[in-house]
This record gives sequence, structure tokens and C-alpha cells, in this order.
Amino acid sequence: MIVVKRIEELKQLIWEAKQVGARIGLVPTMGYFHAGHLSLMHRAKAENDRVVVSLFVNPTQFGPQEDLLSYPRDLERDRALAESVGVDWLFVPEVAEMYPAGYQTFVEVTELTKGLCGARRPGHFRGVATVVLKLFNIVAPDQAYFGEKDAQQLRVIKRMAVDLNLNVKVNGCPIVREADGLALSSRNIYLTPEQRQAALILSRLLNEAGRLIEAGERDAQSLRRRLVQTLATEPLATLDYLEIIASDTLQPLTRLQGEILIALAVKLGATRLIDNRVYQLAPGGEC
Ligand code: PAF
Repeated sequence: MIVVKRIEELKQLIWEAKQVGARIGLVPTMGYFHAGHLSLMHRAKAENDRVVVSLFVNPTQFGPQEDLLSYPRDLERDRALAESVGVDWLFVPEVAEMYPAGYQTFVEVTELTKGLCGARRPGHFRGVATVVLKLFNIVAPDQAYFGEKDAQQLRVIKRMAVDLNLNVKVNGCPIVREADGLALSSRNIYLTPEQRQAALILSRLLNEAGRLIEAGERDAQSLRRRLVQTLATEPLATLDYLEIIASDTLQPLTRLQGEILIALAVKLGATRLIDNRVYQLAPGGEC
């Protein structure tokens, strides 16, 4: 595996690979790899001839009060993990390489970013869309891979790819969980042992929603009320949002029908965790 720091060097390597017909897979990341990242790399490896993993803690997607400086980093460990999966190129640019002096161009996906994390983290998806578009332009991948844990991010990137006629297939990959249900996240490292235990409330709520829907609940407001009540039983957790929305448009629902998404963000101390699940109901509302 080659660690590449310069955009021009990566472009050259990719150009050479494309000359001999190689299909290129891209896995954009901010590093501090866990099994969720590795599952994206494995899939990219299985479906492409060459795999690029980008590792870049993108400053433009962090708000001024957020954890840009403290975001966990461990390049040596990440390098070994990516190599163990068979990644060809680990792209690790400096901030000045991606955003040189004078940089001033940003991409905005206007509607899908209005609610959920977009409402709580102004500018976040503008930063995500911008850096992902830059990575797409640098790597020109045939396919790119993103985790479904960031449900809104995945929809934003898919929308951008369609709207801007990008020649890349954007794939979502299933959430990887600990044995007890906690969705893997680089931010789990921030949790104290007590908060780690309390964090199980996120997956418990999604399971409870599944049981209630299965039992015939079709009213979004009453489902939400029940889930918020359950959340209140966990004193270490505070609700940031819990939304019951259409999976494709992310618009709020009153009646549950079709493909619905329940997305939530919960704070445990200073750490904010997100999770989500898609539930399939028949268009008329049947399971
Ligand atoms: O999901 C992430 O880790 C980041 O938002 C991404 C897609 C790598 C863009 O910086």
C-alpha cells in the first residue's frame, strides 16, 4: 500500500491504473478506523480493481464549537489496518493541500440538509458535500462507499451525484454494531464506561420502534411519544433529535407508510451519537 499525500501524485497513479482498464473504488473517511470502515474497504476491494481510502479530518464540516481539534487520530494504526484489507492507496492530504490559500468554492445540497444533523450543525453538509466532490474529482472513482449510519449524509451525497451528473456509483453499506447493539463510531472513544452503557439507549429505541410498528402502530406522533418516554428512562442521555421521516425525502410523516427512516441523535455528556434504521411498510401502511 502506498501512502499518498499529494493530489497530483494520486491523480497520476490513478491515471496509470485507468490506462490499463482498472476500476477504481473510493472509501472517503476521517480515519480512526473501526470495523465499520473496514467493512467499506472490504466491499470496495471486492467490487473494484484498485481501492483508494482517503483519510482527511475535513475542517469545513466542523462547526466552531465542535471537536475538530480533539477528533481521534492514529495514522500508524489506520495505515496498518488499511494495508491488512489490501487497500492500494491511502490518501492522507494536509489541510493546505485540500484547501490552499484563496480557496472559496463550496457545494450545497439545499433541501435534504434542512433537518436532522443539518439543522443542528449549520454548514456541516456544505463541508461534507464539498470535500466529497473534491475527492470524486481527484480520484474519479467508478464507485464510492459510505456507511448507512450517516443516513442523511448518504442521501445528500447520492443527491449531489445525481444533480451534478457525476460518473460515480454511490453505495451505502450497512451499519456495523458491537455485540450489544451500539453502532460503531470513532466518537465512541469519548464515552466513559457509564456513558458507554447508557449509549445502548439508541439501538434499544430503534428496536422498540420495530416492535411497536410490528404490533400495528401507524401514527408517527404517538410512536415518537412512546420512544421519547423510553429515552427519558436513561438519565445519562439527552435527546438531540428523534425524527420519523420518509426514507428518501427525509420529510416528516404523520402516518407510517412506505419506507420510513427513524433517525436519532443523543447526547451523552459532551458526546453526541447518531443512529438510525429503515423500516419497510407497504404503501398502505402494512408491514
Ligand atoms: O463520514 C465521514 O467520515 C465524513 O463525513 C466524510 C464522508 C469522509 C467526509 O469528510
